Amino acid sequence: MTQDELFKILVAHCKEYGFIFPSSEIYDGLGAVYDYGQLGVELKNNIKRYWWEAMTRLNENIVGIDAAIFMHPSTWVASGHVAAFNDPLIDNRDSKKRYRADVLIEDYLARIEEKIKKEVEKGRKRFGDAFDEEKFRETNPNVLREKAHYDEVHGRYLKAEQANDFAEYKQIILDCDIVCPISGTKNWTDVRQFNLMFSTQFGSTGEGANTVYLRPETAQGIFVDYINVQKTGRMKIPFGIAQIGKAFRNEVVARQFIFRMREFEQMEMEFFCKPGTEMEWFNKWKEARMKWHIALGMGAENYRFHDHEKLAHYANAATDIEFNFPFGFKELEGIHSRTDFDLGNHQQLSGKKLTYFDPETGESYVPYCVETSIGVDRMFLTVLSHAYRSETLENGETRVVLGIPAPLAPVKAAVLPLVKKDGLPELAQKVMDLLKYDFNCQYEEKDSIGKRYRRQDAIGTPFCITVDHKSLEDGCVTVRDRDTMSQERVAVDALHDMIDRKVSLGNLLRQL
Ligand code: GAP
Repeated sequence: MTQDELFKILVAHCKEYGFIFPSSEIYDGLGAVYDYGQLGVELKNNIKRYWWEAMTRLNENIVGIDAAIFMHPSTWVASGHVAAFNDPLIDNRDSKKRYRADVLIEDYLARIEEKIKKEVEKGRKRFGDAFDEEKFRETNPNVLREKAHYDEVHGRYLKAEQANDFAEYKQIILDCDIVCPISGTKNWTDVRQFNLMFSTQFGSTGEGANTVYLRPETAQGIFVDYINVQKTGRMKIPFGIAQIGKAFRNEVVARQFIFRMREFEQMEMEFFCKPGTEMEWFNKWKEARMKWHIALGMGAENYRFHDHEKLAHYANAATDIEFNFPFGFKELEGIHSRTDFDLGNHQQLSGKKLTYFDPETGESYVPYCVETSIGVDRMFLTVLSHAYRSETLENGETRVVLGIPAPLAPVKAAVLPLVKKDGLPELAQKVMDLLKYDFNCQYEEKDSIGKRYRRQDAIGTPFCITVDHKSLEDGCVTVRDRDTMSQERVAVDALHDMIDRKVSLGNLLRQL
């Protein structure tokens, strides 16, 4: 099965089991907007809790806020979003379809990389154990030709990106014979800028309506509240402010399910520090954020840093944490050293003093800032795409299982009376009452026990607890482990501690 097919199955699975639905589906949906269903919201909340506690509980100098989505329009002038939050767009005149010019070129480059990979794999098959990949890459004429072409196009693309040279974007597209995937033609318009912010009218027209924007990032809420938090919380530099909230971007190329959405959620933390110390904090946060990901146990080899070649005008260092999604390594989280760009600009435009007085040195300065920014939805996709697997069992049957890290699993335990009579449902309800105050549990009595196990595997429930006739006599139940499918008899009184050991968020946080 190709990764593409696997991804389609994952999307269908998300809908079938109540994780994610297309928004307003009865009206045929709305592009790149999704709803989280009954299980999706549980997983999403667990991801947010893991992030929130890791930031605000484990760090005494980080506090959280919840700023409004609507902000004064000047915010977005100061932040640079009104002038520069743009995508370079190109239309195909035949299909009337619109594309991001940079994405067309990046996809083209990815196809060259794919060709090189295939050529290397062919060589590996041909030469068997004697295959020397490095030598093959240095000498094979097909690989050398593709590599030279890649370097040429990549070099032109980087230069055009640095210079915002849209005429050159178009020229690269024409020179590389990049065609529209729908019409198959090269009948392209010029490349134009398109602002990604959604706007709406604030107040009635009678009282003079104002254009306001739906925030495209949560970070600016933190910057404009910086002075309030610093003063009321008596915060001393260095300190951080964390926030989780919705963000909105009118993405042109909205693809890959919840990877790129028009309405999404961000978890952002702005860490304010003394100018000159920002690189030390940048490196500390790089390390801390990678540790947060790896503690989930989804394989250190599935993450990598990607340092930015082109820095945004406000940044003096930037890196992405990339994850190995079914469609390749892609950005999951951004870590940026934003200097005093945001606070400095807000100070200038608002006329309000945003400096910090350092009681130890007697200096006043606008703090520098290191940002960590991750999309909740992208993290959700990371967890689900890693968790999904279809296994063939010893008896030839297949089972679909979501190996979600137990502390994030939407349902922690399912309580299953073997039959719907003989007092088993009553005992099962007692087990529910014992567990439900600390864990999200599901009670199920319909269908055979095997079918119920399969349903729980498919939603990633770490434990299935079966209450049978013997339970009435010995006060024990059968506990089945999702991952190993092994079963053991456990006293009802010992259930709580057993589940807690595996699903506890506290234990996960202790690894950080
Ligand atoms: N304040 C910095 C900022 O917003 P960004 O790289 O544009 O930086 C940060 O976004 C993170 O937000 C990304 O790494 C990604 O996880 C998430 N994100 C950005 N755009 C998104 C979209 N359209 N859909 C889903 N997640 C998105």
